[in-house]
Amino acid sequence: MSNDSGRYVVLGKGEIERNRLNEGYLYFKNYARDSKVIYNDAVVISDDAFVLDLATGSGAWLLDLAETVPPSVTIYGVDISSAFFPYIKSEKNQNIHLLAQSCTSLPEDWTGRFDLINQNLVRGALTRDDWQQELKEMFRILKPGGHVQLFEGDCDDWKCRPGSAHEKMRELYKALLDKNSLMFDCGKRLPEMLAKVGFENVHSEVKYYPVNVNEGEGGKMGSNIISRFLRSLKPAILRHSGFGIVGSDEEYETLIAEVQREWNEGTPFFDLVLIYAQKPVV
Ligand SMILES: C[S@@+](CC[C@H](N)C(=O)[O-])C[C@H]1O[C@@H](n2cnc3c(N)ncnc32)[C@H](O)[C@@H]1O
Repeated sequence: MSNDSGRYVVLGKGEIERNRLNEGYLYFKNYARDSKVIYNDAVVISDDAFVLDLATGSGAWLLDLAETVPPSVTIYGVDISSAFFPYIKSEKNQNIHLLAQSCTSLPEDWTGRFDLINQNLVRGALTRDDWQQELKEMFRILKPGGHVQLFEGDCDDWKCRPGSAHEKMRELYKALLDKNSLMFDCGKRLPEMLAKVGFENVHSEVKYYPVNVNEGEGGKMGSNIISRFLRSLKPAILRHSGFGIVGSDEEYETLIAEVQREWNEGTPFFDLVLIYAQKPVV
């Protein structure tokens, strides 16, 4: 992870971001991940398993997992910032441990310790070099036969009608990620990057999610959550003078409203990719 705090392009701080992460977790779980906490049905969590959630943020995934496994399972959460860590000091959560540390450099004595590693939505923070370093760390700290699961965005296949608000938003988003050396095509590249560090049984699946308010509760939630995500990019976009695409706060807000209107007319938003893989048994 670079120390360049400018790379936290999508991350606000404080309560607003924490709420966005928690609501986003439930929305994506229900509408993009088939209500699953563990994505690969072949993964079995034994009573003495060790599980890790990297870039845990508000800890939404690990708290959800903790509800479904016995308290004898040890659960770690790691994030470079403790700003969003959940309050876990209850009797019930004795098996949960949170650590403020970069996912690109994990404790030496964790080698071969974990059965399952989870990581969701870190595209806005890790450069390609960070990813390469992190995937090696994941491989190191997994037990032989251990599993990793990732859920990340991919804008490469985000097809937009020429002249549409979506096309403008895509250009803006790409400019912002490029400016910060972040991977626009993260979801697409990760499977080959996982294979390169030695993972096998790599599975990758594009996941769509509803953003059209006319498509029931999920569509309403998606429109709200994703438009808030786009709004969270505004300060960084305006810091770069809107990349010559939008000129002011008002113009960006108008663009978000236009994008929402296009969602309601049936335009899909960009895809998320669900990926899982396994460290070889020997
Ligand atoms: C968009 S949030 C996602 C949080 C959580 N995974 C979720 O899906 O709700 C990205 C998280 O990555 C964390 N992060 C950024 N760079 C990191 C790094 N190098 N190591 C660990 N965490 C990092 C941020 O602090 C933030 O909590």
